[in-house]
Formats: sequence, C-alpha cells, structure tokens
Amino acid sequence: MVNSSTGSVFPDGFLWGGATAANQIEGAYDEGRRGLATSDFAPFISREANRGYEGDPLPHNAMTREMLDDALEHPEKWNLPKRRGIDFYHRYREQLAELAAMGFKVFRMSISWSRIFPNGDDAEPNEEGLAFYDAVFDECHRLGMEPLVTLCHFDTPLNLALKYGGFKSRHTVDAFERYAETVFSRYKGKVKYWLTFNEINNVLTNPFTCSGVVLPDPNDGTHNPYKGDWAMKYQVSHNQFVASAKAVIKCHEIDPEAKIGNMVCRLENYAESPKPEDQLQVLFEDHFNWFYSDVQAKGEYPYYMKRFFDENDIHIEMEPGDEETLKAGTVDFVTISYYMTYIMRYKGEPVPKPSGSLVSAIKNPYLEASEWGWPIDPLGFRITLNHIYDRYHLPIFISENGLGAVDQLDENGYVEDDYRIDYLKRHVEQLGEAIKDGVDVFGYAWWGPIDLVSSGTSEVSKRYGFVSVDLDDFGSGTHKLGRKKSFYYYKKLIASNGADLSTDNIVIE
Ligand code: BG6
Repeated sequence: MVNSSTGSVFPDGFLWGGATAANQIEGAYDEGRRGLATSDFAPFISREANRGYEGDPLPHNAMTREMLDDALEHPEKWNLPKRRGIDFYHRYREQLAELAAMGFKVFRMSISWSRIFPNGDDAEPNEEGLAFYDAVFDECHRLGMEPLVTLCHFDTPLNLALKYGGFKSRHTVDAFERYAETVFSRYKGKVKYWLTFNEINNVLTNPFTCSGVVLPDPNDGTHNPYKGDWAMKYQVSHNQFVASAKAVIKCHEIDPEAKIGNMVCRLENYAESPKPEDQLQVLFEDHFNWFYSDVQAKGEYPYYMKRFFDENDIHIEMEPGDEETLKAGTVDFVTISYYMTYIMRYKGEPVPKPSGSLVSAIKNPYLEASEWGWPIDPLGFRITLNHIYDRYHLPIFISENGLGAVDQLDENGYVEDDYRIDYLKRHVEQLGEAIKDGVDVFGYAWWGPIDLVSSGTSEVSKRYGFVSVDLDDFGSGTHKLGRKKSFYYYKKLIASNGADLSTDNIVIE
C-alpha cells in the first residue's frame, strides 16, 4: 500500500534502472583477446527496405548459413553494428555516469561469454576479459548502482555454434556450466543478482540469434524463424534448461548471498472474440508462453507439454540426473521483458505449434503501435504481472520494457521525446497498480536507457535511450552523449520512488 511518508506504492529500495546487453553496447569485438560471438554476424537491417547487403531481402532477425559463411570470409562486405556497439568497452565510465545521474539503482548488463572464454570452452579463462568486468562492476558500485548480470544474452561463442551446433550438444551445456562457475567465483560479493539466459523462449522463433545458437540450416528449416524442426528446437530448449539449472545450483553453492533468476519474453495473449475457440487458442499459445518459466521456476516439465510432444512425435532425450538437476536448480526470482500483447484467433488445430507471432499478430484496434508496429499496452502489463505472480509466487523483476523510436536529435543530442515519457509513465502507472494488487515486484529496468544497437535489426536509429549517443547505423558519429527530455522525467520519477509521475513539472537542467 501507499507509503505515508513518501506517497509511493513502490517498496523502499525498489530497484529503478535500465537494461543493456554486451553485444548491443560493448563493441571492441576483437580487443582484449575476445573471441568471436554469434552476434558479431548479425547484419544491419534497415527499416525502410528490410534488406541486407547488396539488396538481398532479409527476413527480420534471420540469418542464413550462406550469409554467415560469407560474413566470416568477407566481413568488409557487411554492416555488422554489433561489432561496434556504442563503444561501452572504452567509454563505460562516462556512459555509466550518465545513468547514475538519473539516480539509477540498478544496471542490467550481460557478460560476453567469448570475452571470458574466447572459444567458449578454452582450458583457461581470459584474464583481460575478467578484469574488464571487474572494472565495470566496481564503477557501478562507486556510482551507487547494483549490477544485475545476464550470463548469456544472444551472444554465444561462435566456435561452439560452428563445432557443436550450440545447445544442440551437451558439450555446450558443460562449457556454459564452467563459464558460469568461473564468473560466479570471480565476482562473488560484487554481483548480487544474476540471470541465466536472456529470453530463453525465443529459441523457438529465432534459434540462431538467440542463445540456442542452432546454426541456420535450410535442410531443417532453422533458417526460417517461423518454421523448423520442432523436435530439435525442444531438444535445444531442454539442454538450455539443464544448463540454466546447473548455473543456478553453482551460483547457490559459490555465493549463498547471491540471487539468480530466469528471463522470458512475456507475450500476453487476448482472444480475438468471445468465441470459446478463440479462448482455447489463447490457452494453447499461453502454454508456449509459460512452458519456459514453468520449467525454470517449478523445476519440472508441465503436464500440458506431454500431449504436444506425443502428437508431434517429439522425444526429449534426457540424460540420467537431468530431472533431479531441473528440480534442484529452480530460480530465486522470475524476470520478463514486456513490450506488447497479442490477439489470438482459433487455428482449427487441437494442439497447434507456437506461432512465435512477433510479426504475425492480428492488429488490436484498441491499441496504438510503435513505429516498428509493436502494440503499446500498459494495462496488459498489469494483467501479465498478476498472471505471473499468481502462477509462481516468486518475486518479479522487470528485465526489460521500453519504446524504440526515431528521435530527431538536435546538436546537443536533445529531443522532446514526449512519446517515450508517455510510454514510461503509463507503464509505471500500471506497474504500481500491479503492486497494489499484491504482486511482489522488486525492480524495473527500462530497456536501452542509453541508445544502443537494436537486437532485431541492428539499427542504432531505433533509439530507446534517455541518453542519446551521437552515432548512426553505419558507425559514423562522435559518441557524444546527450540528455533527452525523458532523462529528466525518469530522474524525477526515480527521485520520488515512482510517486511523482506527472509530466507537467519536468525540469530540464
Ligand atoms: C528483447 C531483447 O527482445 O528486446 C533485447 O532482450 C532487445 O536484446 C529488445 O534489444 C528490443 O528489441 P529490438 O529488436 O528493438 O532491439
């Protein structure tokens, strides 16, 4: 309930802040003895043409094996922005200082696995990589921000993808466990909050770019994010569940003070009509939504997957001990990215395959959408938080929520981004309502509090930040930082612990 002295519904010590990922900010892809990662091959996809290099049509977020091979041999032909990021690797001090200036309490970031183990499975970790993150965590603490660290955010070492098909192989599970153990021991006491895989459920739709790192292969359909060999994708998911559970167990053993969570891309579904069939479709789609967090939070495969696996001839190969590992490696808290909601229409199949409908959603006439067509649904945020809490009764952290937009920046990197302020205000309002409903939420991280490289399209011009970076999609720019109007709004919001959401008293300093 409302705190009488602060007027806030948010608990004292609520972790306000922002979220990033190594592959979208660090750059310096070939410095400090870092090895190549899958994300180093994600091509720029312009929103105008949605095309890759030399005019080839390129589906959103997809990458073919031919493109990967070509980019390995001729990287100069490609625009590969994730190799550049926003140069956080060299400029983290000034960039973190801007976030701290908004009063951030938490900074979500990820470790680049190939900075620690260049090939993913080297005999010894890379001291230069380890030292880099020591320096970043120290800086966060100096600035009063708690680092919340994802072990793997869409950037698995390329060597593991090429040699082992990523998480198709148990070799990658073992390598991940060793990597996790290494960073837990090194950063014990420095990092209190960990996450295992970013958006683990996206392996179904983007098996290469997400952490499953199954190589795109025309023969098994994995080059097409909306088709594919489901049996293989679910086997990859199983291997990732085991890897995640092993990391949880190690984390608890090595640092009993630390907490470790999961992270799923949460897609709340609404039925298109009151027709019971549409409602049934919501149930089916929700199964695929819940499956990942059910395993990670409850430690076992949910009942509803059995029928789906049976009817689709999917047989998960488990090794002895896997079930015990899943049971022992349940997470301490659950986290989500929340960007949008979907509309479901009955598809005439009793147990359909997941649509992974990032682009195929039916338009909701009651919602506006972002410039990238992502429906904006603050009320859905409250609804989804209630559903999650009801299911798990575990503390929730909002790992991502945000608005990508085309900002018209002036020469100081300033823009009157009232659209971003409005999005933030309306989502935080509903977050507050969910807390009043009784949902236990302990932090909120805006996605991309500083402009960064987009995950899906590798654009810098899809800007999420409160802090702007003078950079374009082709790596030109001074890296100069600017403060947008939303910078001052979020600062005021944080200072009041979420009590002051008004937009008419924003002080631009
Ligand atoms: C989430 C990812 O899917 O959405 C982030 O975890 C990503 O890495 C974010 O950046 C927004 O997506 P995009 O494609 O606009 O960068």
